[in-house]
Amino acid sequence: MTEKCRRLAGKIAIVTGAGTTQARDNFGTGQAIALLFARQGAKVLVADLDADRAELTRQTILAEGGEAAVVRANVAEEAGCRAMVEACVKEYGGVHVLVNNAGAGASGTVTDIGAADFDLAVDVNIKGAAMAAKYAIPVMAEAGGGSIINITSIDGMRTGGIRNVPYSVAKAGLSHLSTLMACHHGHQNIRSNCIAPGHIYGSYVHNFLTPDIRERRRRAAPLGTEGNAWDVAWAAVFLASDEARWISGIVLPVDGGLATATPLAMFDAIEGGDNGARGEVG
Ligand SMILES: NC(=O)c1ccc[n+]([C@@H]2O[C@H](COP(=O)([O-])OP(=O)(O)OC[C@H]3O[C@@H](n4cnc5c(N)ncnc54)[C@H](O)[C@@H]3O)[C@@H](O)[C@H]2O)c1
Repeated sequence: MTEKCRRLAGKIAIVTGAGTTQARDNFGTGQAIALLFARQGAKVLVADLDADRAELTRQTILAEGGEAAVVRANVAEEAGCRAMVEACVKEYGGVHVLVNNAGAGASGTVTDIGAADFDLAVDVNIKGAAMAAKYAIPVMAEAGGGSIINITSIDGMRTGGIRNVPYSVAKAGLSHLSTLMACHHGHQNIRSNCIAPGHIYGSYVHNFLTPDIRERRRRAAPLGTEGNAWDVAWAAVFLASDEARWISGIVLPVDGGLATATPLAMFDAIEGGDNGARGEVG
């Protein structure tokens, strides 16, 4: 690809949680975002709690001829966020794109959960994104602007298939944080948007999905196909690019159309019939 064709040429990006928990053919969203950003010409700071995972992503980028550095960072701590941004400035001279991808959560209804579960979900998903942005925004503003991309979830919009109050509430909070940042920092030419992945198959769910549930998740989306980390990563490339220069404050579902459907609209499809609402049930 020529330099002119690369959508992110000249950009410097931080991607949090950009390691992966799984083998090479089962990418995490952060890892796929880091790889695609590098393929599109960005210099990428791969940030992760687990330095070995981050290094795996960096090595993959380097093997493809891309440019990447690694920092071990716990985004749940303000000092970790500050050090991460400082490492990016030191290594590459600035920050144009921040992807708040690191996430954590726990299962349970409100009567099941422990306070520690709640703290972890809030600390990683909301506080982590806020603290990373706190240190990245002044650096972005100094360079004339930037793009913040927050990875939320369809679970932050409606009740998902798993009872996971801490996770869902934290993703909803992250979405509102994104809205506030879009409004408060728009005058500095800083855009803030969310990507809400749907039932994608990747490293995050690999360990607990049975084949049957995986198949039902596929059928539940009107497109009837399974999404993966690359679908999320291409959306991130767009939101990071200058082509998205007038887009701020949105939540972009990457979900195969899931958000268009009520449960009964997909009833037949989930049971193994045709996709799409036929109005024969309910
Ligand atoms: N995969 C899905 O089905 C799905 C759906 C909706 C939303 N998401 C969101 O996508 C994001 C990433 O998921 P993934 O598929 O890449 O998961 P993953 O488990 O492959 O990767 C997450 C990475 O985040 C790192 N991490 C965890 N806590 C951290 C912290 N405190 N500081 C820094 N790094 C930390 C982990 O070490 C891991 O490498 C999460 O925000 C998740 O909520 C995923």
